[in-house]
Amino acid sequence: MTTPTTEAARFWDGHHAAHLPDGEPHANARLVEVGSGWPPGRALDLGSGAGGDALWLARRGWRVTAADISAVALAHLDHRAGEAGLADLITTERHDLAATFPAGPFDLVAAHYLHTSFPLPREHLLRQAAAALAPGGRLLVVEHGSVAPWSWSRNPDSCPPLTAPSLDPARWTVERADTLPRRATGPGGQTADVVDHLLLIRRTR
Ligand SMILES: C[S@@+](CC[C@H](N)C(=O)[O-])C[C@H]1O[C@@H](n2cnc3c(N)ncnc32)[C@H](O)[C@@H]1O
Repeated sequence: MTTPTTEAARFWDGHHAAHLPDGEPHANARLVEVGSGWPPGRALDLGSGAGGDALWLARRGWRVTAADISAVALAHLDHRAGEAGLADLITTERHDLAATFPAGPFDLVAAHYLHTSFPLPREHLLRQAAAALAPGGRLLVVEHGSVAPWSWSRNPDSCPPLTAPSLDPARWTVERADTLPRRATGPGGQTADVVDHLLLIRRTR
């Protein structure tokens, strides 16, 4: 792991400093929908942000590595994990995922809305995530298919189609590749109809 000091790190630190939730951050709706029945194991949350998903997973017994480029977001998650008595289950690691990747293996790698306006080699990153899975492990990727009215990004091009990386079919299976509508609630309680892209890949051996 390196300590990111790039423009991207500064942007995301500033973003999180301005948007940290007052209360405990919420888990993402798709993770709750899809992952509630999965048995706990070792999880990696890529681009964890303030850590709603990491906290939700740890409460269900997962041992979570939360990786983000932002020291501000990770410090907030460390604080929340301590308050919730989950510090033993959550490890934060600062990575610029364009350059470094956490050491596996993991039973779950989750990446929710890992959008950025800085270069991020998505195909390479998803291949690294798939390779970090233990046999039987799952890679869950959820991305925006539309821009919510309250989004930090006003650029519709920030929602490209989510395509599965090129993987050996003898070792990985694409279980789901869906585009799904959702009624979303924004930070001020406002609602809007949005679209998510969801990709679920399983490592078979
Ligand atoms: C749109 S937010 C999503 C946060 C969280 N997953 C969620 O769903 O609330 C994108 C996250 O990715 C992180 N991020 C952006 N670029 C990154 C990079 N190159 N490496 C690691 N994290 C990055 C940001 O700091 C931010 O927390």
